[in-house]
Amino acid sequence: MQPTEAQSLVQRAQQDPVWWATAILGVDLWGKQREILESVRDHGRTAVRSAHGLGKTYIAAVTALWWLLSHPESIVISTAPTWPQVENLLWREIRRLHTQARYPLDGKLLTTSLEISEKWYALGLSTNQPERFQGFHAEHLLLIVDEASGVDQGIFDASEGFLTGPHARVLLIGNPTQVRGEFYEAFRSPLYQKLQLSAFDSPNVTHQDNVRPYLTTSEWIDDKRVKWGEGTPLWQSRVLGEFPDQGEDMVFPLSWVEQAQQRVPQHTGAIHFGVDVARFGTDASVLAVRQGPDIVHLEQHHQWDTMAVAGWIAQAAKSWRPQSIRVDADGLGAGVYDVLKAQGLPVVEIHSGTAAKDSDQFLNRRAEWYWGLRERLDPQMAPDPIALPRDEDLLAHLTSLHYKFTARGQVQLESKDDLRKQGLPSPDCADAVCYAFASVQGRSAVVGTQPMPQVPQWVQGLQNGARMPVVAGHGQLPQPVTGGKRGVGQALACPQCGNVLSRHNSRGQWWCPDDGWQERE
Ligand SMILES: Nc1ncnc2c1ncn2[C@@H]1O[C@H](COP(=O)(O)OP(=O)(O)O)[C@@H](O)[C@H]1O
Ligand SMILES: [Mg+2]
Repeated sequence: MQPTEAQSLVQRAQQDPVWWATAILGVDLWGKQREILESVRDHGRTAVRSAHGLGKTYIAAVTALWWLLSHPESIVISTAPTWPQVENLLWREIRRLHTQARYPLDGKLLTTSLEISEKWYALGLSTNQPERFQGFHAEHLLLIVDEASGVDQGIFDASEGFLTGPHARVLLIGNPTQVRGEFYEAFRSPLYQKLQLSAFDSPNVTHQDNVRPYLTTSEWIDDKRVKWGEGTPLWQSRVLGEFPDQGEDMVFPLSWVEQAQQRVPQHTGAIHFGVDVARFGTDASVLAVRQGPDIVHLEQHHQWDTMAVAGWIAQAAKSWRPQSIRVDADGLGAGVYDVLKAQGLPVVEIHSGTAAKDSDQFLNRRAEWYWGLRERLDPQMAPDPIALPRDEDLLAHLTSLHYKFTARGQVQLESKDDLRKQGLPSPDCADAVCYAFASVQGRSAVVGTQPMPQVPQWVQGLQNGARMPVVAGHGQLPQPVTGGKRGVGQALACPQCGNVLSRHNSRGQWWCPDDGWQERE
């Protein structure tokens, strides 16, 4: 091939990315994917908000390869909120496209890098190290951020430096979940070319035939209409590709729950069960297993009778050996409670309608417990936010909850009946998780009814304040907010588990790593 012919082919690739992707990678892009690719060609910054399963990650991978292989000495930097998302989603697509291309492609391909030369490469970076996003220099630079809603502002700030060049490009793509940060602001900024993909744009929906079975289908949308309900934050974000309403009255914003579902549980601390027992045919009975600060297991069964549920929980208790089993004992749950109690298991009755401990602030226990869970999930409030299992029903149930205030100014949560009237699913998974975290001390519980053979010495120490001398570092405990008998700086113990409490909030509660905010006189 003549050099001029080679040059004109490279030029064609630069000008016609869809041709290049089709002819060289051998891919068949659908309409919106083509638009995205062409937008990166034409605009400095492109932001794409999209529903679930429409080929976002796929087109991001195609874009990375096109940019790299059609621009000599270019650099592609890619990232996503978590390392597994970089390695197993975006780069898995890049590796697959690279190895299955129609023609051999340049570069040494590793798990998260493709290097043609020292100055010409694509790289996957983790968001844990914002400083690594600085200092790239190339004439043709592309930054790709997959699931950009979940990426911290620090990454964008660090990247600004290398995005100022004459031929620099940014592609932010993802499911819109957070109503703050660069991705959200991009849709208000004149700097960005903006695109939106709704599940209703899927070729499977517009062609009324599943022409591309790997993309979202009409059946999937119908299923989510029933499971999530139209207008809910999940529907807005995952189906319509819209930023979810972050109504002030939402108990759990979508982004908090999604972040908790990305965290890895620590697997330390005591085990507690939360059990929500189905009341109606369509509801599920749910078991949530909490270990220390995290939910480590969630399981649900539909249409099981009381005995079956009790048998299942008793069996689970054999393997997990929980310290407490909190059973929703209103309605059918009372039967489950009785059976488990008769077996000598450490059951605790949960009655969410009873008066709150802090009845100035909360209408009932349900509101009080859910508020406690909210504080554990709030990244601003919780010193150590919790991990939740990646369960779609749990996500839907938690994000369907709203609160309001009573005439007396107490926080009140929407009841299951309110939700049912709006056609929303019963938040059974959320309730089980809530019970697993509920502060149930001092209730009609059978926890710890067995006398302890020998009281450990530290218990007495705590009771009469005989502490070891303060070691360096421990003196930094926060000052108690309420007055009382305690000496200033004295360690407080959690009434639930005995852990040392640190840090207090404006309500005078103290934080326990295992049990969350705790009341101490
Ligand atoms: N144009 C396409 N041709 C072939 N497969 C595709 C195409 N677009 C997407 N896919 C496949 O469809 C599935 C969903 O795409 P993905 O990029 O993971 O969606 P999203 O990131 O929007 O959730 C993946 O298995 C992906 O490989
Ligand atoms: Mg994706």
